[in-house]
Amino acid sequence: MIDGYEDMTVLVTGANRGLGAAFADALVGLGAKKVYGAARDPETVRAPGVTPVRLDVTDRRRIADLAQELSDVTMVINNAGIHQRASVFDDTVVDVVESVMRTNLVGTLAVSAAFAPRLIENGGGIIANMLSAGSWLAGPGNLAYAVSKAAALSLTNNLRAELSPRGVQVTAIHAGFIDTDMMASFPGPKLSPREVAEAALSAIAAGAQEVLIDEMSRRAKAASAQPVPAFAGLTTAG
Ligand SMILES: NC(=O)c1ccc[n+]([C@@H]2O[C@H](COP(=O)([O-])OP(=O)(O)OC[C@H]3O[C@@H](n4cnc5c(N)ncnc54)[C@H](OP(=O)(O)O)[C@@H]3O)[C@@H](O)[C@H]2O)c1
Repeated sequence: MIDGYEDMTVLVTGANRGLGAAFADALVGLGAKKVYGAARDPETVRAPGVTPVRLDVTDRRRIADLAQELSDVTMVINNAGIHQRASVFDDTVVDVVESVMRTNLVGTLAVSAAFAPRLIENGGGIIANMLSAGSWLAGPGNLAYAVSKAAALSLTNNLRAELSPRGVQVTAIHAGFIDTDMMASFPGPKLSPREVAEAALSAIAAGAQEVLIDEMSRRAKAASAQPVPAFAGLTTAG
């Protein structure tokens, strides 16, 4: 549990738009000591008070270099992610799943593994992984994303098992539909990125290991105890 964000130096991945931009902006508003906004194109990180850094989470060499450069980081928010539709009937299904896993799972692992020693050196810290209600749900076309977020949930739990004894808080954040480019084609209702970022940061500061932002996430987690947890009936964000 932290007192606040005043002493925290935070790296946010995918900070140029959507939820990542909202996280970075909210952290500046909360008085974080420093906020590094990581993006594939750092020139697209424009929020006042955010220091842009270049990072593609699928580029392991760049991740390693950045972990050396940013030795002051005490918190990482693994937010960067992609959603690509995939069905078992698509010829491309294996390629799409590999691609989504490379970003949503392997990218999250690579950034966490590179920065964990930094956090420990700096006296402990926080890794927060942006997951989804989809971590627990299945639905036609959602195969790649759901598999990646379910795997990233297991990754988050396993990171916690290893890092918590070293003083690193590892938090999983789950939300339903958020009003960003990723869900532009979904009519809604949707959560605002700002409300998700603020609710997550508040719960993380209170020491939460799991944040269920909305009713959809809470119901998805409960539904996972059923034999066939599905999106049907769970499509309201509020
Ligand atoms: N939107 C939702 O309904 C929803 C719900 C639950 C969870 N989430 C999760 O929230 C996170 C943010 O999503 P969003 O809704 O803000 O999506 P978004 O608007 O599509 O933004 C995705 C962000 O991830 C970045 N990104 C993608 N691949 C990357 C890579 N290889 N390296 C570095 N950055 C990369 C993008 O950068 P570029 O600009 O370079 O593409 C962009 O900044 C994701 O993990 C997503 O799965 C979203």
